[in-house]
Amino acid sequence: MITVSGRRFHLRGANYSYVFEADGAGYLLHLYFGRRIADEDISFLAAPCFLSFSPEPPDALSPAFSLDTEPQEYGCYGQGDFRRPALVFVREGGRASNLRYEGYELTSDAVPAGLPHVRGGETLAVKLRDTLADVRVTLFYTVNDDSDVLVRHAEIEAGEDLVLERVFSFSLDLPAGDYDVLRLHGRHLAERIPCRTALGHGLCRIESSRGASSHQMNPFLAVMGRDASEDSGDVYGFGLIYSGSFALEAERCQTDVRVQGGLNDLGFSWRLKKGEVFTAPQAMLAWSSSGMGGLSRVYADFFRTHILPPERVFSPRPIVINNWEATYFDFDTPALLKLIDEAAALGIDTFVLDDGWFGARSDDHRALGDWYVNCEKLAGGLDPVIAHCKERGMKFGLWFEPEMISENSDLFRAHPGWAVGTPPRCKSRDQYVLDLSRPEIVDYIYNCMAKLLQLHDISYVKWDMNRHLTEFCGEKSGGREGEFAHRYMLGVYALAERLAKNFPGVFFEGCSGGGGRFDAGMLYYFPQFWTSDDTDPFERAKIQWGTSYAYPMSAMSCHVSASPNHQTGRETLLSARGHIASLGATGYELDLGKLSAEEKEAVKAQIIAYREVEDLILRGDLYRLSDPFGSNVFAELAVSKDKTRAYAVGMVERFIPSDYNRRLRLKGLDENKRYHVRELGLTLHGSTLMHAGLLLPKLHDLETWVWHIEQV
Ligand code: GLA
Repeated sequence: MITVSGRRFHLRGANYSYVFEADGAGYLLHLYFGRRIADEDISFLAAPCFLSFSPEPPDALSPAFSLDTEPQEYGCYGQGDFRRPALVFVREGGRASNLRYEGYELTSDAVPAGLPHVRGGETLAVKLRDTLADVRVTLFYTVNDDSDVLVRHAEIEAGEDLVLERVFSFSLDLPAGDYDVLRLHGRHLAERIPCRTALGHGLCRIESSRGASSHQMNPFLAVMGRDASEDSGDVYGFGLIYSGSFALEAERCQTDVRVQGGLNDLGFSWRLKKGEVFTAPQAMLAWSSSGMGGLSRVYADFFRTHILPPERVFSPRPIVINNWEATYFDFDTPALLKLIDEAAALGIDTFVLDDGWFGARSDDHRALGDWYVNCEKLAGGLDPVIAHCKERGMKFGLWFEPEMISENSDLFRAHPGWAVGTPPRCKSRDQYVLDLSRPEIVDYIYNCMAKLLQLHDISYVKWDMNRHLTEFCGEKSGGREGEFAHRYMLGVYALAERLAKNFPGVFFEGCSGGGGRFDAGMLYYFPQFWTSDDTDPFERAKIQWGTSYAYPMSAMSCHVSASPNHQTGRETLLSARGHIASLGATGYELDLGKLSAEEKEAVKAQIIAYREVEDLILRGDLYRLSDPFGSNVFAELAVSKDKTRAYAVGMVERFIPSDYNRRLRLKGLDENKRYHVRELGLTLHGSTLMHAGLLLPKLHDLETWVWHIEQV
């Protein structure tokens, strides 16, 4: 709900209020973000406070007023606000800017052109005008009554020629206080590791300058009171609906804490000619008073209702067998048919043919860009494989890496200028990136993929991206290199949008060397994303735990792979691999032919068991029970919205013989309902399960357990 009273704006979602106002001089001041409050004048919260060395702007209404100390809604540069600005541009007259309120509009159609965005909601567009330059800024606020996520973005319109140097999507100044920040950092094979630290004075900045949101730092930052925990306390989340180079900042200043973010300004510049508009991507500002757990559930619901593709989000997911770790590049048609036979017999419903089916792709040194079937390797092409799938009641999926080009490819030989960068270029995984900032190259790749999707019965596409960008320029970007990273992302989004729109029957899964681009931008097009190339259940439990802070379980693609694990060499039980993979969109990625008869029966049972709990994964609320980073036990619980069913999965890292009668308290149940815990044969009230708890099973190293919990 959006309420406008004079120049005060009060935005309300399910439980939060977000209040700001334009003061008498037109400065847009942030007043409040948190639990719902009455709609009344709270401008006293931004009373001018005189501080030495904080200058007043030229026409300040009070000598104590300074942009340096007032809580701003979108801070700008050069007239005395020494905190980091949300916007910097340069024009002939210099860099200073001074934004003032001009008016507002309520709209239901404020979608940022060419960018992934929130679906639904009502939008307030607040218009600001610069008093020093001929520039207009519109701040968009999209509110959904069913959610505690407020979506913001900004648009800059030039009335004179200028160069944008920094355009953040949102900015706000939280009241002074002691806060902690939580970020999700990582690397290939170890994505989204939570890291919580105190926010000291100065800047906490997380960013990617890799042309992708990256494994290394996820575009998500939580800011919370020191006393906030997993289950209680005020927590704010700041996530970007963007998949490229980004920055998020929390800056503890002399009077408050500025939190803001958007496109990474490092290396960024964007020329705007008079009359042109620049649109920054959307950001999701979330609030919960129930700690990090509450915040994660706010985000999970928001993704499911407003970000993920609506026609896919709640449907049962394909359970795939992917041939990558079964064969790597070493396959031919008979080998694939054998894998399909094995999979069909176990109840797997989709076969996904991974890397190596196209051009001369015999290893990862060649052929990216040559999107035609290698008929030497696959006798008769894809059709015999697809027909075999169909005969066994299975669907067929195909891997692509649409954004890449190998030097050793027909495409590169024909168009050496289509690669990002000019020689000498960096290589990574022996490949270059295709210059998707150029629409004609997007068209070319679209046509290659569309042709295959039209010719063959392909129901699933795995879209991979296996290197980051360097050089940030192309053959045709002369003079506009600062725009390259964002223009590249616009090209990627244009391609994804067109494919998703024109092939509604195809299920798209995202991937980037595992979970390197696991973000809201990609999840707008792809209902799920490959969480990590590390499928060792011990490592995976941690990766999925970290990912769950900001993303729903159903967005995590999770496969059972071989033991010993190909990444870690660690041996684990098939049950452990299955249990951990059941906490997301489950699937298989191993040579099924190498399983014993007993293991095959176990896989069959896993698939039946997964389908039984799948609705909890797709629709349920996730409660993190025991933190694998801080304890010997990993445990999570998915609870149905009506609290009649729940599914717990746990893993013990090390067997500790002397560890007796350790209890685990459940969460999220109804205190007054009685539940039956199938595996333990116990029937107890929710209050008992949540407060007295259950005994942790006695397990050996890396063994797992599940509890199916049902209301009686
Ligand atoms: C990436 C993906 C893997 C696999 C390979 C193929 O690493 O994460 O799942 O598809 O590429 O080259």
